[in-house]
Amino acid sequence: MPRFAYVNGRYLPHDEAAVHIEDRGFQFADGVYEVATIVGGRFADLEGHLARLERSLRELRMPWPVKPASLRLIMRELAARNGVRDGLVYVQVTRGVAPRDFRFPADAVPTLVLTCRRSRFQTARQLAEGVSVITIPDIRWLRRDIKTVGLLAQSLGKQKAAEAGAYEAWQVDPDGTVTEGCSSNAWIVTADGTLVTRPASNLILNGITRLSLLRIARDLGIPVEERPFTVAEAHAAREALMSSAGSFALPVTRIDGQPVGEGRPGPLTLRLRAAYLADVGAPDPVGRV
Ligand code: PDD
Repeated sequence: MPRFAYVNGRYLPHDEAAVHIEDRGFQFADGVYEVATIVGGRFADLEGHLARLERSLRELRMPWPVKPASLRLIMRELAARNGVRDGLVYVQVTRGVAPRDFRFPADAVPTLVLTCRRSRFQTARQLAEGVSVITIPDIRWLRRDIKTVGLLAQSLGKQKAAEAGAYEAWQVDPDGTVTEGCSSNAWIVTADGTLVTRPASNLILNGITRLSLLRIARDLGIPVEERPFTVAEAHAAREALMSSAGSFALPVTRIDGQPVGEGRPGPLTLRLRAAYLADVGAPDPVGRV
């Protein structure tokens, strides 16, 4: 099946889709993005992703490229044209094309790009065994709450993780607390069964999956604390997990080579994952857990 992308009002064959060389996204990372998951033909947390896109745009003083209702239609149309029932839709908005100048152009028209691809999200083995993470210093700027396309620190971190045979890298602030993964939020379950994740602030991206998992955990009566945790606490935790669009709630069973708890996916993590996918209204795309 041919693959299509969307660029500024047109659906184009993926290989022919392009933006201008003076797009500010290319030159200044002056753009924001969202990644939304489609599971079993349904968008997961679509309203949350659109709400965060609105916030990111506002924080960078960028206008909506199209009305939110139109964007919703474009996302659905692109998924349909690509025949994707399990996969990801990527939405990027930049400030637009202008001669290179650090200051904002007076009259730029925002660039809107969408791509869509099938994904199997994780392998059955990753879900059965859990994944490993390494810890690295958080070298990013102080507006991590804005989902910008400036992802070089995360790219370096993920590459380091891959070279270490790990799935993700958890970034650590100078005070020793874990901020978040390079493309996911970080969680632990303490010895007394409390689910812990860092509170939303300028130091992390407030994950849409994170917000849903917090709501679901509270609804299930699971004790929840939003507070920073250290790497030492994570090593001593009963369970660890990561969350993001596409990883949902994914067990983390090794941190810097040391097993977490018994080194197997924890029951609370698996319960949260099942509850999250039930909330989306789709079966687990990786299989029954
Ligand atoms: N990343 N933290 C960071 C730094 C992220 O990049 C992401 C998502 C998250 C989780 O947010 P959400 O639950 O809304 O996906 C947390 C996406 C998946 C990406 O860049 O591909």
